[in-house]
Parts: sequence; structure tokens; C-alpha cells
Amino acid sequence: MSKLRLEGKVAIITGAASGIGEAAAKLFAEHGAFVIIADIQHEPANQVVDSIGLVRTGSGELGKYGIRVNCISPFGVSTPMASKMSNLDISTLEAKGNPLSNLKGIVLKAKHVAESALFLASNESYYISRHNLAVDGGFSVVSNVMSMVKS
Ligand SMILES: NC(=O)c1ccc[n+]([C@@H]2O[C@H](COP(=O)([O-])OP(=O)(O)OC[C@H]3O[C@@H](n4cnc5c(N)ncnc54)[C@H](O)[C@@H]3O)[C@@H](O)[C@H]2O)c1
Repeated sequence: MSKLRLEGKVAIITGAASGIGEAAAKLFAEHGAFVIIADIQHEPANQVVDSIGLVRTGSGELGKYGIRVNCISPFGVSTPMASKMSNLDISTLEAKGNPLSNLKGIVLKAKHVAESALFLASNESYYISRHNLAVDGGFSVVSNVMSMVKS
């Protein structure tokens, strides 16, 4: 097994019953974090708790306390929320999103976003704070949507 990257750390993950939050809760627990999850969907949240086994539920200016604050901005991920909003099933949604993406041949999954969060939560990003990590395959720099609009 690879090195535990979050051993001794506490992670509080909101929206952990589904999608990106669920993927992050599972991955963080696998990497040794003590994970506290919060979600308004109690039963699915409990299922996530059961699936990781070692978790408990619960529900600016932090640098001076040694607390790093970072953000992830992903490209569209076909999660239950995205499916509900678009009224499309996951595979149709992925197929529709593909032509808009800049990075071809890879479909962004919740797991990939969770892996980026794992990096930001681990000591590998020791001195990174107030950073917005775009997990979008370059979409926000080279926006195909805008080129489609122009054409
Ligand atoms: N899926 C995407 O393409 C995408 C892209 C960019 C940003 N995001 C953002 O990522 C986050 C997670 O999205 P997702 O796609 O994994 O959605 P999801 O619907 O799969 O999961 C969201 C979870 O949040 C929970 N939730 C909603 N309101 C809550 C509240 N007040 N307190 C606690 N939990 C609450 C829901 O019950 C659900 O379990 C959202 O903030 C979304 O806006 C998603």
C-alpha cells in the first residue's frame, strides 16, 4: 500500500453523502485521516460512514494559526447533482460534456477531484495556501465554450 498521506490529520467534509464529497471522504480515510462528515442526506451519509468504517459523523484569516485554506475549481463532473440539474443520466452527461473539454481522452470523475483535494490536504502542499487549483484540464484558460460561441 502507498504511503498514508493524511496520517494524524482531521478532515471535515461537507456534502460527503454524494459525488465529490463522498469520493473525498473515502480517499481521505484510506490515507489515514480522521474524517468527520456532514450532510443533509442522513441515510446516504451513514452509508458512506459504514463503507469507511473508521469515521464519525458530525456535522481570510487563518494563516496566523497555521491553517492553510485552498479551493478547487473543477470542470463539470457527472455527479448526482449535475445529473439532477441537467435531467440527464451520468453517461449521457459525460458524453455531452466531452466536446466542451479542453483535455481530450480523459473524463473527469469525482475521484480525480478528490485526489486533488488529497494533495492540498497533505503535507505535499505544505506551503500552499489561498490557492485556487483549477482541476479543469485547462478549460478556464482555453475555453472551448467561448470559441463555440464566437463561431
Ligand atoms: N459536479 C460538478 O460538475 C461541479 C463542478 C464545480 C463545482 N461543483 C461543486 O462541488 C460541490 C459538490 O458537488 P457534487 O457534484 O459532488 O454534488 P452532489 O449532489 O453529488 O453532492 C452534494 C452533496 O451535498 C449535500 N448537501 C447539500 N446541501 C447541504 C448542506 N446545506 N449541508 C450539508 N450537505 C449538503 C447533498 O446532500 C449531497 O450529498 C458543490 O458545491 C458543487 O457546486 C460541482
